[in-house]
Amino acid sequence: MEFKELKSRITEELKDISSLQQLKDFSSKYLGKKGEIRMLFSKLKDLSIEEKKVLGQEINDFSSQIEQTVSEMEHNFRFAERSKKRENSPINMELPGLSPEVGHIHPLTTVKKEMETIFELMGFSVVEGLEVEDEWHNFDSLNIPEGHPARDALSLGKTFYLKNGGVMRSQTSAAQTRHMKKIKPPIKIIIPGRVYRYEKTDASHEVNFYQLEGMYIDENVSVANLKAILEKFLEEFFKRKVEIRLRPSYFPFTEPSFEVDMLCTVCNGKGCSTCKKTGWVELLGCGIIHPNVIKNGGLDPEQWKGFAFGLSIDRPAMMKYKINDIRFFHSGNLKFLKQF
Ligand code: DAH
Repeated sequence: MEFKELKSRITEELKDISSLQQLKDFSSKYLGKKGEIRMLFSKLKDLSIEEKKVLGQEINDFSSQIEQTVSEMEHNFRFAERSKKRENSPINMELPGLSPEVGHIHPLTTVKKEMETIFELMGFSVVEGLEVEDEWHNFDSLNIPEGHPARDALSLGKTFYLKNGGVMRSQTSAAQTRHMKKIKPPIKIIIPGRVYRYEKTDASHEVNFYQLEGMYIDENVSVANLKAILEKFLEEFFKRKVEIRLRPSYFPFTEPSFEVDMLCTVCNGKGCSTCKKTGWVELLGCGIIHPNVIKNGGLDPEQWKGFAFGLSIDRPAMMKYKINDIRFFHSGNLKFLKQF
């Protein structure tokens, strides 16, 4: 009798439970070792063995059925609670996340790497020079005598002098004699890197820009070799034949010396701010290395000849991507940079 009464009480109470707390109170009242259902067992002692068996089984079955129901209800309550919290939360867990901003390679670095690869395929090794140089390597070793206007810090020369007597290299050529002393000829190297010039900036001039120095020293090197290498390089770099012109020029460290211009790709030769309205863009200086420089590199100019060139990295990059102002490169302007 007591069992029947308990059963219907429990079934009724379960129907009214509407919160997790009520469910917990219910569980501690009826389930567990001290719950009312267990307590029924102590009341079985006056019954016969047969009756004990039957009723005991019934109580056990009922108990596990209720436990099962309670556990399902608990799960549902918790689920509902979480959904409600989520609904009221200002954080929407279902929105796609913001992907973190990652940087990418600067266009000048990309171009520099491309250039390196082309020269490597032609058998050149990539080596480094020093950004902080001494006057001897930046000037004297290159046959630029004292008093030459290129050495002047403030007027024509545009060199940054350091308090300790060093200079910020104004040309990657400064590394030429260092490598002549280091590498046993034949030497076939390129030296890419940043150079510094004290000058007024405009669309085609920066205080900081990049050069790629090339140097090939062997027993028999000619202007024809130089021209062939440069033409091949430009064709590979621009992925088409490029119109260039060679102008006789003067550099203290080469004899003969040339300057190479290419037709401006920004305006296609019509004249714009990049080419200063001339239709041509200066690409590089080059020539056959002066015997004095070979000597300063510790080699015998009677035996060793070579060509050298100093290619701007920024200018071809501007030509390739049709950038009309060199100052964009170091501007930190994200609108500009994100295009590459
Ligand atoms: N160093 C020169 C400059 O910065 C460029 C140059 C000209 C480099 C002739 C060379 C060369 O190696 O042979 O303007």
